[in-house]
Amino acid sequence: MAQIIDGKKISAAVRGEIAKETKQFVDEHGFAPGLTVIIVGEDPASQVYVRNKKRACEEVGFASRVIEMHEQTTEEELLSVIDGLVKDDMVHGILVQLPLPKHISEEAVLRAIPPHKDVDAFHAENVGKIMIGNFEFLPCTPAGVMELLKYEGVDPAGKECVVVGRSNIVGKPMAMLLLHANGTVTICHSRTRNLAEVTRRADILVVAVGRANFITADMVKPGAVVIDVGMNRNAEGKLCGDVDFAAVESVASMITPVPGGVGPMTITMLLKNTLTAAKSFAARKK
Ligand code: GUN
Repeated sequence: MAQIIDGKKISAAVRGEIAKETKQFVDEHGFAPGLTVIIVGEDPASQVYVRNKKRACEEVGFASRVIEMHEQTTEEELLSVIDGLVKDDMVHGILVQLPLPKHISEEAVLRAIPPHKDVDAFHAENVGKIMIGNFEFLPCTPAGVMELLKYEGVDPAGKECVVVGRSNIVGKPMAMLLLHANGTVTICHSRTRNLAEVTRRADILVVAVGRANFITADMVKPGAVVIDVGMNRNAEGKLCGDVDFAAVESVASMITPVPGGVGPMTITMLLKNTLTAAKSFAARKK
């Protein structure tokens, strides 16, 4: 039976450190790290994510704010709100929750958040820095996965690492972080031939495709470390990941549950990036 990687417990430990550092920061500078999250429209999943981000900020002592904008908001209106936040010295991190309504260009919006306030690390400049390996902000979900591996003593160096999914948010930056950690990395996607053959090679298997029970036990090498980034609802409406947890648990050596695995770590890494942004701001002001 696999060891369950407890993302909630690991998250709590890291957030405890962030809370301590935040207190020192506030004592030294007289203001708190500030994160503003913008949500456009009423996507229920996004609303839950945003609520969790706000609560996490409050728990570590950040000044957090959520700006809710209606579904019909124009791109111009959204860019104007972002511009106000860019000029606000008390806002150190700006996050626009994705997905955006279809009439708004995601690319234009992400470009409007300057790299030094881009705590999601979605701006092209930050993405480029991740590629080079010289970065200030880590992409939150992949960074959360790396933190889980580190905490559990799993070193990707020299290992076969297979990432299933090639999104800009998870798959691509995940592959890059594993590569920086000296893993031998393969990215699989919807056009990959003989997927199971490739996933069965993985010592570390990271799955981010957004389909319930996509990874079955026969696709996993005995003893593999399986990281499930998926967040889906199954036929009964229950939250589940991309991995058939009940079956894969008896094949893997370690596995993350959903919920309670990668999810809490993603928010924790967002907190870390916001604290980093606030520290950089304070250093620039000196
Ligand atoms: N939507 C789903 N995941 C994310 C994320 O990490 N950041 C943002 N901004 N939106 C998301």
